[in-house]
Amino acid sequence: MYGKPVQKACCIAFVSISLISCQETDVPENQIINTLTGKVATYEELSAGTATIFSTSKFAYDTEAPWVKDNLYSRFLEGDLLYDDRRVPDMNDFNMGGLGPVYAGFSCGSCHNNAGATASTLWSEGGSGSNGFSSCLIYITRKDGGYMRNYGRVLHDQTAIYGVKPEGKLKVTYTYEKGYFPDGEEYELATPHYTITEWYADSLKPEDLVISVRTPLRHVGMGQMMALDHLQLERLAAQSNYPEYGISGRLNYISERGVMGIGVSGRKAQHQDLTVELGFSSDLGVTNDRYPEEVCQGQEQYNQLYTHNQHGIQISTEDMEAVDLYMHCLGVPARRNVDDPEVKRGEEAFYAAKCHLCHTPTLHTRTSRVTLLNGTDLPWLSGQIIHPYSDYLLHDMGPELNDAYVSGLAAGYEWRTTPLWGIGLLDAVNGHTQMMHDGRARNFIEAIMWHGGEGAVSREIFRKMEKKDRDALVKFLQSL
Ligand code: HEC
Ligand code: HEC
Repeated sequence: MYGKPVQKACCIAFVSISLISCQETDVPENQIINTLTGKVATYEELSAGTATIFSTSKFAYDTEAPWVKDNLYSRFLEGDLLYDDRRVPDMNDFNMGGLGPVYAGFSCGSCHNNAGATASTLWSEGGSGSNGFSSCLIYITRKDGGYMRNYGRVLHDQTAIYGVKPEGKLKVTYTYEKGYFPDGEEYELATPHYTITEWYADSLKPEDLVISVRTPLRHVGMGQMMALDHLQLERLAAQSNYPEYGISGRLNYISERGVMGIGVSGRKAQHQDLTVELGFSSDLGVTNDRYPEEVCQGQEQYNQLYTHNQHGIQISTEDMEAVDLYMHCLGVPARRNVDDPEVKRGEEAFYAAKCHLCHTPTLHTRTSRVTLLNGTDLPWLSGQIIHPYSDYLLHDMGPELNDAYVSGLAAGYEWRTTPLWGIGLLDAVNGHTQMMHDGRARNFIEAIMWHGGEGAVSREIFRKMEKKDRDALVKFLQSL
């Protein structure tokens, strides 16, 4: 039933832009035109059913789904602005104020540029960023699991307020190790080593400290992720047991808003929702009704400057709902070059290497209603066939990727399978190809060669492939 409007949009677009004609008025109701090829979109191309968009530009992650119209579109734009606009420290500016006193980024978009993952300041600046944001989150905890009273869980390495110091600064150095494929081709893995300098208060001895550094996740398929069928996920977790390949995934369960449930978002599936309130509070230092206290409240340096909770609430619930709606309504970019023989060969290699046992190609969203917290119905997210290339489960990825940081059920070595949809457009959207939870992999080959633990069998099958199959597999990943 959504074929019609899409088809109309295609005609409008192509009358002026290209010579491809849209005279095929016999396109059946339920078919969608791929405006990149001018043909009816195929099953493989439709990454997220009717939410699929056709773009290879830097806005490929940041474009509304085709069904976002009228009033929904206004709310989407409102959310997009609140997401991207640089916040300022001024506490009298209720619209764009509230940044800090300490923070990590000055807008959601500072880390998630164009709804993607901003190039890492780890690589460009050797750690914390110097331009008012770091495009990463630095989690710290005591090795014995104890909470760091003076810091909280995130090290806020930026400040915008005179007299307040950043909580500390992150430095990273890399050691490099070369590896070789059997045919002699070389690759290199960079292992990060972190230290924290310029602690604002008492520092912890390195041997007592756990530091986990995370680069941002792309916002591809946020609405679909929230519309996942939890029964299907539970079935997937029960089925995800392939002893012959050493693979068995499991769900993370966490408590959110006082309710225990399945975690889907975040690198360890440590959240049930799209973390809007937490993002504003913990990443930006913008207080809200769910997190009414400044993140640095209780710190000496805060108490000297301000009386208790002087700042009040710095973003309204309505504004946060608009941001939540914006992320739910983003379109998912269609796959490209699906018929290219090399891409097809790469797809076969993907299956041969058992990548699909974790990076599940196809899931479906639940059939029941998808409704936002404020009651907004998004019926278009229900009942869709989607190609996220993830099982949203946790897997033991081995000692090299162990960050010793526990989140809910997830141990240090466990990570959620990163959804691969849209990953081939990362370079076009964000101008880099840094991957894995801390951005240590600089390209697809390195990302694959970092797979350990349950991913080791895959990695070894890949290692032993002929070069043309390895190249084809990368081509396939670029088509996602
Ligand atoms: C300082 C950088 C930074 C800022 C600012 C930031 N994020 Fe993030 N975001 C991250 C990182 C890093 C992750 C991955 C963290 C993890 O899972 O451990 C992430 C993950 C997410 C995810 C999970 C995506 C998925 O696929 O599961 C969502 C949703 C999200 N952020 C939304 C937001 C929103 C909304 C804002 C603004 C209120 C925001 N972020 C601000 C760095 C940032
Ligand atoms: C045992 C499950 C498992 C298998 C098998 C597996 N992966 Fe992964 N993959 C993961 C997990 C978990 C991550 C996230 C690791 C991290 O962030 O440190 C990941 C991350 C990735 C990434 C980086 C994504 C990003 O945005 O950072 C790529 C690319 C990737 N996998 C491709 C592959 C390919 C290709 C294969 C087959 C050769 C494969 N994976 C096999 C679980 C798996």
